[in-house]
Amino acid sequence: MSHASRHYDFGSPATAYAELARDLRALLAGERDLIANAANTAALVHDALPDLNWTGFYLYKSGELVLGPFQGKPACVRIGMGKGVCGTAAARRETVLVEDVHAFPGHIACDSASNSEIVIPLLRGAELMGVLDLDSPKLRRFGAEDQRGLETLARIFVESVE
Ligand code: SME
Repeated sequence: MSHASRHYDFGSPATAYAELARDLRALLAGERDLIANAANTAALVHDALPDLNWTGFYLYKSGELVLGPFQGKPACVRIGMGKGVCGTAAARRETVLVEDVHAFPGHIACDSASNSEIVIPLLRGAELMGVLDLDSPKLRRFGAEDQRGLETLARIFVESVE
């Protein structure tokens, strides 16, 4: 596939996420390097979805989350389990969708432009690899269709590095 940026029509979210899933599979095909695939996943997703100010990975290392490949402004490097939105999603091992980060107790403000956020845990069986974190300057940017679509993309990423 061409690696040029491509337009996805999120007027039809299910179709847009299906196309994005297909393109992510193609982009990661034949490569298993964790950092390379995380970097390309962050770049593709950040470029494809409207209204994002940060898209990236925190990787689970020695009991905490450590900043991985991302697109956006420089971010906090280490997040403890249970801390912030990322640490909460990691500890619960389930997606956390926050409509208004200012109303989320313990939210870690890395970029003051962020108003809503979704964090998807990356699970290889029972093993936590890290999380995929997306931030938006818009309130209530992420809904159930985004959660479904992004969980599929996260699974494609995890399977690519297995
Ligand atoms: N807001 C996140 C921290 C990471 S930055 O948004 C990139 C949190 O509360 O975990």
